Amino acid sequence: MNRWDERYSQNGYAYGTEPNQFLVEQVNALNLAAPLNILSLGEGEGRNAVYLATLGHHVHAVDGSSVGMAKAHKLAEQNRVSLQTQVADLTHYTINSPCDAVIMIFCHLPSDVRHAIHQKIMDALVPGGVLIYQAYSTRQLNYQTGGPREADLLVNLDELEQCFSNMNVLHGCMSEKEIYEGKYHTGLAAVTEFVARKPFE
Ligand SMILES: C[S@@+](CC[C@H](N)C(=O)[O-])C[C@H]1O[C@@H](n2cnc3c(N)ncnc32)[C@H](O)[C@@H]1O
Repeated sequence: MNRWDERYSQNGYAYGTEPNQFLVEQVNALNLAAPLNILSLGEGEGRNAVYLATLGHHVHAVDGSSVGMAKAHKLAEQNRVSLQTQVADLTHYTINSPCDAVIMIFCHLPSDVRHAIHQKIMDALVPGGVLIYQAYSTRQLNYQTGGPREADLLVNLDELEQCFSNMNVLHGCMSEKEIYEGKYHTGLAAVTEFVARKPFE
């Protein structure tokens, strides 16, 4: 059992059942017309995938935790929506179908794995497809409110601007904001936010 399986084996939902606030804001701002094919990487226990599915999108949720993915199904059932889930390690992950949108919400990977995934996202997005990304930045090491304690796992804006330099940036910032999500995201935090659209060519 990996550490995420252990976390998700506890009672309740580790990050709650409400969707991530930044995701909700960006989905509203982008006015994404359903149904889109949306890929969620590092989806966890399903809160964001279920939210997108309730809007009528087809969501493919991927996570390394089988416990998380099982709970995602349960949450989907409770909300009378369906999800496609996949238990997979993103270290060796291939994105098999084109995506209208990709979301990465607090999916913290080692930098080499992250860079490879960023390239795969670029390749998988259809022209006009969007990426919605929120992660703790290296400044989060100054806070004790969630996220990994290793700098290599944290994400700064310059990295995303470089990796996605072929995309049109709609929103990019590093900021400090209050984030309360379940038991593990517990207050003022330093985050990187990034939203970009793949050009129509
Ligand atoms: C902090 S949780 C965030 C979960 C979800 N995105 C949310 O916001 O509720 C990070 C998630 O990334 C997943 N993850 C981390 N490394 C992974 C990897 N190499 N392959 C697949 N999933 C991974 C974990 O299993 C965990 O569910």
